[in-house]
Amino acid sequence: MASVWLLGAATLVVAALLYRLLKLFARPALPLPPGPRPWPIVGNMPHLGAVPHHAIADLARKYGPLMHLRLGFVDVVVAASASVAEQFLKVHDANFSSRPPNAGAKYIAYNYQDMVFAPYGPRWRMLRKISAVHLFSAKALDDFKQLRQEEVRRLTRTLASSTSRAVSLDQLLNVCTTNALARVMIGRRVFNDGAAGCDPRADEFKSMVVEVMVLAGVFNIGDFIPALEWLDLQGVQGKMKKLHKRFDEFLTNIIEEHKHEKKEEHKDLLSTLLTLKEVQDDEGTRLTDVEIKALLLNFFTAGTDTSSSTTEWAIAELIRHPRILAQVQQELDSVVGRDRFVNESDLPNLPYFQAFIKETFRLHPSTPLSLPRIADESCEIFGYHIPKGATLLLNVWAIARDPKEWADPLAFKPERFLPGGEKADVDVRGNDFEVIPFGAGRRICAGMSLGLRMVQLLTATLAHAFDWELQDGLNPEKLNMEEAYGLTLQRKVPLCVYPKPRLSPEVFSSQC
Ligand code: HEM
Repeated sequence: MASVWLLGAATLVVAALLYRLLKLFARPALPLPPGPRPWPIVGNMPHLGAVPHHAIADLARKYGPLMHLRLGFVDVVVAASASVAEQFLKVHDANFSSRPPNAGAKYIAYNYQDMVFAPYGPRWRMLRKISAVHLFSAKALDDFKQLRQEEVRRLTRTLASSTSRAVSLDQLLNVCTTNALARVMIGRRVFNDGAAGCDPRADEFKSMVVEVMVLAGVFNIGDFIPALEWLDLQGVQGKMKKLHKRFDEFLTNIIEEHKHEKKEEHKDLLSTLLTLKEVQDDEGTRLTDVEIKALLLNFFTAGTDTSSSTTEWAIAELIRHPRILAQVQQELDSVVGRDRFVNESDLPNLPYFQAFIKETFRLHPSTPLSLPRIADESCEIFGYHIPKGATLLLNVWAIARDPKEWADPLAFKPERFLPGGEKADVDVRGNDFEVIPFGAGRRICAGMSLGLRMVQLLTATLAHAFDWELQDGLNPEKLNMEEAYGLTLQRKVPLCVYPKPRLSPEVFSSQC
């Protein structure tokens, strides 16, 4: 009998030892990055607050620039300094080149068949290559320069004719960026700006784009607690499915129209995509109808609000800083004069203005947490264990305000980017990790060159063409610069202004 007890006890001890040993081997030798203690089930979700990039920046100040969070059942690592971002997006970029699963990709973006959410691989490479050649190459950008200038001038004339009442800039800027892009992509404008000859489907389309941004910005519980996905507790997935149906009908109609029209009538991206459908690329991949629709969807959503909201912040900064506005206008007057509008070819000749735009991107990055990436494999960064499958959030907003990198980080000072300034050689194109509004590495913003050109052209034209007064005689120093959070960084209070034309009247009345 005693021997049975002994055998039982020995078995238990061996089992316990084995369990501990196994745990020892299973557990990474390295610790996870530090972070706040998670709650059961929801993890650190309650820590995110109403404006997650602010809350995460506050946490990083306490726990350090490489931080671990647990959102529901998902490991999340946060990069909140230039050196940590460089580790993820340069040293370990290949390991972080896909995006984590999410409802928006599944229900809106054609079940990951788009470019933004496509897993890193041959299909993503094909989509990226096609758009790099036909939409974003220097040649393609130059070919469509005229269309962008026309849309910006159309906006300028609308503003010049509404000097007696305050105008809300956000909507007008969004109409302008969307129409400029639509003319390149599908050969026609999509938004109604009150001008004659508008498209009857314009308002419907606008409401869909706005809804995508709203839904994509909602924090969806099912993405982090997969067991609850089917319940769709916030109703987000249901709304996404409905929206997808509307978008799909719209895009299908556009594609069908193109197929039935004579090819030579169109020189837009869609026509090119339709001809590419017939061709196999080097990796044996062929473009499908669904991928074409998913690409159009990507560009209309990723490429419009980002540029228009950055321009709105830029104009707000000019209004708040009359000295900077005067200097920008002086430079524009000396390079462009007062008898014509700004052209894209003027932009490289405006060094102070270029520095001003960099400073705007630094303090107002349009996607403050960039777009998430996922760890393909576990890896080690700065002595910490980064688990396989962890979601990477890059707090580009906090990185660009890091007092260890920037002197007087909250002050708006374009001079820091000029010769003799602390960051004279720094640019925003993804090589200098202290300011990465377009992300960096393989998945850097595909439309960066277009986004930069559009923001620069719009802002330069508006700064050159108008002086600005605020609604109700508000003192510029008191202008509300608070942020609201959606997928993109919006102003909490939209900018309402009186534009006062400062160029000769013939400039506004001419059609070119
Ligand atoms: C002010 C303008 C813009 C800003 C600040 C911006 C910012 C970003 C950021 C931060 C990312 C994520 C990059 C990463 O994961 O590292 C991104 C991705 C992307 N952006 Fe932009 N963007 C802008 C304009 C545009 C435009 C004009 C287009 C197209 C018309 C565009 C299309 C895309 C696409 C397709 C992706 C996904 C790329 C991929 O996953 O491979 N963006 N953008």
